[in-house]
Amino acid sequence: MDEFKPATSLRVVMIVATAPARTGLGEKVGHELEARHVELTTQRFPDGEYHARLEAAVDGTAVLVSDLRPDARIVETLVALDALHEAGADEVILAAPYLAYGRQDQAFEAGEGVSARALLKALGANADAFATVDPHTMSVLEHFPGPTGAATAAPEIAQRFAGEDVDVVLAPDEGARQRASDVAQRLGCPHDHLEKRRKSAREVEIQPHDADVGDSTVLVIDDIVATGGTMATATRQLLEAGAGRVMLAATHGVFADGALKRLRDAGAATILATDAIETEAAKISAAPALARAVQQARSG
Ligand code: R5P
Repeated sequence: MDEFKPATSLRVVMIVATAPARTGLGEKVGHELEARHVELTTQRFPDGEYHARLEAAVDGTAVLVSDLRPDARIVETLVALDALHEAGADEVILAAPYLAYGRQDQAFEAGEGVSARALLKALGANADAFATVDPHTMSVLEHFPGPTGAATAAPEIAQRFAGEDVDVVLAPDEGARQRASDVAQRLGCPHDHLEKRRKSAREVEIQPHDADVGDSTVLVIDDIVATGGTMATATRQLLEAGAGRVMLAATHGVFADGALKRLRDAGAATILATDAIETEAAKISAAPALARAVQQARSG
C-alpha cells in the first residue's frame, strides 16, 4: 500500500464524502448543504477486507454519507469514518439514510440483544454526530452517544403524490399516524390510521377500516416496508372495502422476501419509496431530508 499523500487540501467548512456505492445520494446531499462532494477511494484486499482512503486533506467538518444495510456496509462505514479522521477532519458526521436495526430498539424478551443500541454505540465510537431519515422511533437515537439529527421525508413524499388526487392518507398502524397526518396536510386531504396486530415477523392482522373508502384513492404510508406483510394486508382490506385505488409509499423500502411482488399481487396500484434504500421502487430523493438531518445534528 502506498504511503498516504493527500492530493489536495480542502479548506472548506464542510465536505460530504461517500463510498462509490452512494455517489449519487452524496452529490445531492453535498448540493443541498452547499458543500463539496468527494468520493472515497475504496478497494478490497485479496482476503476480502475493505480499505477506504480520502485522497484529500480536510480541515473542518466532514459528513460521510453511507449505508448501514446490508451488514457489510456497516464495516465499510466504520473504516470510512476512520479515513475521514485520518484525513484531518475536526468533526465527522455520519449521515446514514436508513437506520438499520432500528426496530430492535429494546429487549422484547429476556436475554435479547438490543441491536440498535449495539450498532449506534459502535458508530458513536467512530463518528461525532449521527444523522438519519425517518428512524423507526425517535427514542432509538438516544443510544448514540453524541448529537443526532433526524428529518422526515414526508415533504418529498407528499410532493411526489401531489398530482394523484389522493382522497385520504392512511397509516397502517397508530405508530405511523403522525407521518400520515403530515403528508395529508400537505396534500390537503384527511388522514386516519388502521389498527394492526402483528402475529409473527411475516404476518399481521389489520382491522377493517370503518370509514367509507368507497371509490376513493387511498394513499397508505409507512416508515418501513420490510416483508410487505403490513402493506399487503392493508391493501387487500381497503380494496375489499371498496377503495378505487390503493397507492403505497414508504421512506424505507427494504422489500425483503419478494415483498414487491406480494404488494403488486395484493392489488397496489403504485408502490414508491425514497432512495434511502436503493431499489427499483426508490423514485423519491431522500437527499433533502438527509441534508436537513445533518444540519440538525450539527446544531445539536
Ligand atoms: C412497524 O411498526 C413498521 O412501522 C412497519 O409497519 C413494519 O416494519 C413493516 O414490516 P413488514 O413490511 O414486514 O410488515
